[in-house]
Amino acid sequence: MKNQIYYFILVLLFFACKQQKKDYTSPNFSAIPQLEVLAQKAIKNLPLFPPDSLNIPRSIKPDGTLNTVKSRDWTSGFYAGTLWQLYRFSKNEELKNAAIAWTKFQTKEQFDDHTHDLGFKIYCSFGEGFKLTKEAEYKKVIISAANQLSQRFNEKVGAIKSWDFNAPEWQFPVIIDNMMNLELLFEAAILANDDRLYKLADQHAQTTLNSHFRPDNSSVHVVDFDPVTGVIRSKVTHQGYSDDSAWARGQAWGLYGYTLAYRYTKNPAYLAQAQKIAHFFFTHPNLPADKIPYWDFNAPNIPNEERDVSASAIAASALLELSQYDKNNSAKYIGWADEVLTALSAKNYTATTPPFFLNQSVGSKPGNSEINTPINYADYYYVEALWRRNKLQN
Ligand code: GLY
Repeated sequence: MKNQIYYFILVLLFFACKQQKKDYTSPNFSAIPQLEVLAQKAIKNLPLFPPDSLNIPRSIKPDGTLNTVKSRDWTSGFYAGTLWQLYRFSKNEELKNAAIAWTKFQTKEQFDDHTHDLGFKIYCSFGEGFKLTKEAEYKKVIISAANQLSQRFNEKVGAIKSWDFNAPEWQFPVIIDNMMNLELLFEAAILANDDRLYKLADQHAQTTLNSHFRPDNSSVHVVDFDPVTGVIRSKVTHQGYSDDSAWARGQAWGLYGYTLAYRYTKNPAYLAQAQKIAHFFFTHPNLPADKIPYWDFNAPNIPNEERDVSASAIAASALLELSQYDKNNSAKYIGWADEVLTALSAKNYTATTPPFFLNQSVGSKPGNSEINTPINYADYYYVEALWRRNKLQN
């Protein structure tokens, strides 16, 4: 009888492992063919988009025309960044020259003191360029932008202020997206050998860890602090469905942000948070089978809600980095990323309007802006994810 019970338990364990393996089996995604397609598309599009500082491609308007921005916009660095990434893959000189030209338009943004978005604006353009060229001028801009961003750090709060608008309702808003700007600070800390920048970035990550996460490991979008006492005043949303909901891109920013914070600090608490966010995102009952989330995990009319492709591209790229830090779960993370990349590389998520690669992102549903459209940052993180996937394959 005892033997029979042992046998029964062994059989159960076997099937449990088999089930787990089946769930996480990688579809064996190959990134190179897709990177080749995208590089060719980008080269073909170059004559259609001559460098123009007043017209940086951002998204597509509801009437089908191109929505462009100036360098002041938070998304202005992604177009140059995408060109740099495709140059890295293809070594095509035309892509490099275009990347240099579009990056130049970002130069004055190093002095922008009205936003936390310097990380996006400067690191996705100059940062990508610096990785590939080691251009001394780019290094100077990166360090200067990081110093500018550090001016928004408040000792009492222990974080960088995100936005200046909506005062006096918000006095010191810190949004989960702000985790992304830490890469600029951490890199500049290394480039300038400046421990102050490292400490500010680390403190910001710690404060966000303490303030933004709920017991289910989802994140609030905006936490507003009292800048004098450092006390939390409110926890609300700006781009999500409700104050209590899980805005999809916010979860993706958190996943990416804690993965990169771990890259620089090796703080196990940051790794643990990234693992928890990945689990929340990729095992959520409202995540569709193809792993491209609705714009908010708690949107009221699921399944009749728009997807947010940008959230999936950001999350896939983050997972591929996370897979290198958490070897016990790396097959699972790569498997999830492969499912996302397989879906995004299929026809139904392919943009038909140049210069974009992906359709079906959502900028701000509550703001009724950029609903179900191509957006430049979805493309940027998609190309980055493909590149990371390719590196893992090799
Ligand atoms: N604030 C960046 C975003 O919309 O995701």
